[in-house]
Amino acid sequence: MPRVFSGIQPTGEPHIGNLFGAMFNYVKLGEQYGKNAIYCIVDLHAPTNPAAYDPQTLARLTYEMALANLAVGLDPDKVIFFVQSHVREHAELGWLFTLQTPVGELERMTQYKDKAEKLESIPAGLLMYPVLQAADILLYKADTVPVGEDQVQHIELTREIARRFNHNFSETFPEPRAVLTIDALRVPGVDGQGKMSKSKGPSSTIGVLEDMESIWQKLRPAPTDPARVRRTDPGNPNVCLIFDYHKLFSDLPTIEMVNVECRRAGIGCIDCKKALLGGIERTLTPIQQRAAEISAQPEQVYDALERGANEARAIAAPVMEEVRQKMGFLGK
Ligand code: TYM
Repeated sequence: MPRVFSGIQPTGEPHIGNLFGAMFNYVKLGEQYGKNAIYCIVDLHAPTNPAAYDPQTLARLTYEMALANLAVGLDPDKVIFFVQSHVREHAELGWLFTLQTPVGELERMTQYKDKAEKLESIPAGLLMYPVLQAADILLYKADTVPVGEDQVQHIELTREIARRFNHNFSETFPEPRAVLTIDALRVPGVDGQGKMSKSKGPSSTIGVLEDMESIWQKLRPAPTDPARVRRTDPGNPNVCLIFDYHKLFSDLPTIEMVNVECRRAGIGCIDCKKALLGGIERTLTPIQQRAAEISAQPEQVYDALERGANEARAIAAPVMEEVRQKMGFLGK
């Protein structure tokens, strides 16, 4: 039976990139693999980005990320769902992998380079980030990792780390593979500045729990095909981020209508955005309603996370013991 592991950072509100790139997949794989599907809110990763970390908000954002995943349909009785810092073994295995990972391999990581170039002083944790990510996955000997395309390089590094450990200390870990959602590899940001990302802040994101009026205020000025200046100019949906969103949210007849009518200037960009808002509303409203219901009993969220941490620890503790023994640490 394959074992699935994935993690999501509590660095801001969950957005539709997270939803289509990862969260829907968590639910789907959870239905298939039950307790062999393990999902984690990776709060130890969040402070590696100084711009997104605030001790005053970390706990709230962690809770909200849990809430959003439950509202999307993750069933904590069927899968294992918990908070990373509640299972101390993540940090311990992360450290042991740090000892064996060449700095050069970490410096090549695209996400590290992107984030580091914006910082004056680079925390060592930002460089070590993918080592902790490898520990998250391998602590459960997981082989299947549902993620967006931006994480593929980190999963390749995880395979390297597993291979190196197995070579140095005998066969222990599987070499995991990334599972991508083909139609949502890299959802663009609504500001038209590349990938939608929590760390770029709310001007880039459409939040899973964001109200429709606020979403409309972002969609209305969002850039479309730059060659379409006047209403009468024909547009090219293939270079329009609104069309990318239609492919995620709208039904096939609407997608086809937009594809045809945009090209012959039959509809304007505002009509096209209104049609999109309808699709967004149909997708997000049930999720938002469920989030409101769950919020009425927050203690159930905390209970579910505590049960999840206990289940995760039951798998992690013997793996950690095996690693300590193989690496030669004195037993208790
Ligand atoms: P994070 O929190 O940045 O993103 C969570 C998930 O959402 C996906 N994603 C996207 N997919 C498509 N389009 C986008 N615009 C978009 N933005 C984000 C990400 O690929 C991710 O799957 N390093 C991970 C967290 C992590 C992890 C792990 C993941 C820590 N340990 C172990 C898997 C396994 C991250 O940055 O997540």
